[in-house]
Amino acid sequence: MSQQKTILRALAGETLPTPPIWMMRQAGRYLPEYKATRAQAGDFLSLCYNPELAAEVTLQPIRRYDFDAAILFADILLLPQALGADLWFVTGEGPRLSTIETMEQVENLRPVDEIDETLSPIYETVRILSGELPKKTTLIGFAGAPWTVATYMIAGQGTPDQGPAHALKDQHRDVFVALMDRITEGTIEYLSRQIDAGAEVVKVFDSWAGSLKGQDFQDFSVAPIRRIVSALKSRHPDTPIIAFPRGAGSKYEGLHVEMGADCIALDEGVSAEWAAKHVQIGGCVQGNLASPHMVTGGEDLVRETREICDALSNGPHIFNLGHGITPDANPDNVQLMIDTVRGG
Ligand code: CP3
Repeated sequence: MSQQKTILRALAGETLPTPPIWMMRQAGRYLPEYKATRAQAGDFLSLCYNPELAAEVTLQPIRRYDFDAAILFADILLLPQALGADLWFVTGEGPRLSTIETMEQVENLRPVDEIDETLSPIYETVRILSGELPKKTTLIGFAGAPWTVATYMIAGQGTPDQGPAHALKDQHRDVFVALMDRITEGTIEYLSRQIDAGAEVVKVFDSWAGSLKGQDFQDFSVAPIRRIVSALKSRHPDTPIIAFPRGAGSKYEGLHVEMGADCIALDEGVSAEWAAKHVQIGGCVQGNLASPHMVTGGEDLVRETREICDALSNGPHIFNLGHGITPDANPDNVQLMIDTVRGG
């Protein structure tokens, strides 16, 4: 047991004296070396589909900071692209996709057994990384959760309130459910192939789970994630799964059981003290320092980091931010956070 990598030990339910640490979006625009490699690739999507360069940017934060885990460099929107959606990124604005509104468009999506053709460079990145990462570093693969991916496929872009996806769900439930099913099946295949290629843990990002209220949260965040988890567990029983239903609030309680995940990732909207009592009793939790601290740093960062570590010290915990680090973050603050977690 003690030979095992720290993140795998925490995911197996062990309480460690120092929580293992990694950071959402740890390879990204706050790092000058990332910007240089992206420029070499040409643009973000070319970087994602170039296994050598994608592996290189995955490794950059490991070299710089000695994190306990590396997360595959890719994007949740590569799956919609593999399913046949057009995808492009507008500089300074974000992703754009062709939209889905009708049953015919859902039926015209590429069948799940054809997605691997587009996604094979991503699996190659995973293979390169499993050979190149330091022995103690865990490789995390990932995908978006069906609801979050659907919000982009329906609206064709990011939306503040996920309005178009809610409208399709409420007005054309059959189309919405068919789309969710197709994404769910694609996600199972995509994550399963990442595991085959060498991902040791996978994470499911439901970034917009917080806008699903009442029964919708159960039906369209919990149920599809549970379906993905149970399909992966039957194919890869030893691979731990992290679920991140961002914005779940009080609904975080009980999610280990409801989703079947080994770890529930917390955003900064819940306090670590509350999470220790209500979520960590179900298993490992990950989180949840507010990412603006990576911009502002200083004593607030140190105090808040210590409070989170203390509050979650009596159970399995992986230290992380509550959401991705932003491009305006100061790389020195990342080191300060790591030193605080490891040095007390
Ligand atoms: O965490 C990591 O370092 C691994 C790589 C990763 C990226 N995106 C790289 C990326 C991961 C895990 C994601 C997940 C992702 N992508 C999510 C879920 C997590 C979250 O942040 O809520 C979502 C919603 C997306 C979709 C997406 N990709 C958006 C909305 C954007 C534009 C916003 C932005 O930050 O520019 C992206 C682009 C993106 N994905 C970048 C990176 C490093 C920036 C692209 C660039 O270099 O310009």
